[in-house]
Amino acid sequence: MLSAGGYLPADVVSNDELARRYGLDTSDAWIQERTGIRQRHLAAPGESASSMGIKAAAQALERAGVDASEVDAVIVATATPDSSFPATAVRIQAGLGITRGFAFDLLAACTGFIYALSVADAMIRTGQCRTALVIGAETYSRILDWTDRTTCVLFGDGAGAVVLRAEEGESGILSSHIHADGRHGGILHVEGGPGSTGGTGLLRMAGREVFKHAVTKLASAVDEALAANSLAREDVTWLVPHQANIRIIDAMGRKLHLPRERVVVTVDRHANTSAASIPLALAEAVGEGRFKPGDLLLLEAIGGGLTWGATLLRW
Ligand code: UT7
Repeated sequence: MLSAGGYLPADVVSNDELARRYGLDTSDAWIQERTGIRQRHLAAPGESASSMGIKAAAQALERAGVDASEVDAVIVATATPDSSFPATAVRIQAGLGITRGFAFDLLAACTGFIYALSVADAMIRTGQCRTALVIGAETYSRILDWTDRTTCVLFGDGAGAVVLRAEEGESGILSSHIHADGRHGGILHVEGGPGSTGGTGLLRMAGREVFKHAVTKLASAVDEALAANSLAREDVTWLVPHQANIRIIDAMGRKLHLPRERVVVTVDRHANTSAASIPLALAEAVGEGRFKPGDLLLLEAIGGGLTWGATLLRW
């Protein structure tokens, strides 16, 4: 992984402002206590997964010192594409002026970025591409029910991107471990969609149920990733988790015996940006120069499907 970039919409909405704007019976105290969220960024009219993804990718390429013409694969994890097709990845490819290679979207909800890393890594290892942009880009504000306080306070919009390149050496993705169990699809899903109701549909979540799955499934994915590489939790330098809830993030930090300063946290400012949350966290940490060569990063996520997974990578 050469570098990471991110983009967040300009409209920063605090918990109090959100409650005012949408007439919600909620409070800043409830949201902060239960989730750690203080604010979120919301896309402006006209902003989309592709427009934000282009900005995030451009920053990632610039930081990596890679020209867009060198990119031969664009893989975008999103549950909120601009339209059913062309894929958001193809729109981003065109927006960056890339005319070669391939581009496609992948849908695994909040686990989308881990899935996309897994796919990109496998394609690089099998020689199908050499330089890949892997992007998470979401506009959940467009699929939220703004009258449902149990879900609409939790999410935000944004995009993050990383540049992967086939290179010899110690750094890079060690392994990814992805899982799905569709029996639990009903506890976090979008009601309706282009192929059923013809519309976009709205997000529904049984939060407490998802929370229970999150703690056990993330723990097992983390153990699996460490065991596959004969590594111990003490070897992990940074936890870069999906940013859904500070209580879940803290539980994973405790499991790994990592102090808070070794956990990249953005949920307080970004809220849950689904597939964009991990690359946005990576982008922030890279911007602050937090990762050093040789650091071991552990990425993990769970989301609708249910899907979940973890990636270990050497910086
Ligand atoms: O990104 C994909 C993965 N997603 C996740 O990992 C999310 C996992 N779940 C969670 O993070 C938490 O379950 C939530 C943050 C969604 C909810 O927290 P909770 O501690 O599980 O709360 P709860 O759902 O058990 O609700 C507690 C109470 C309820 O009232 P009663 O039934 O106890 O009277 C809710 O109606 O809080 C009430 N409530 C609210 N009150 C004020 C729910 N939403 C709100 C709200 N403001 N926005």
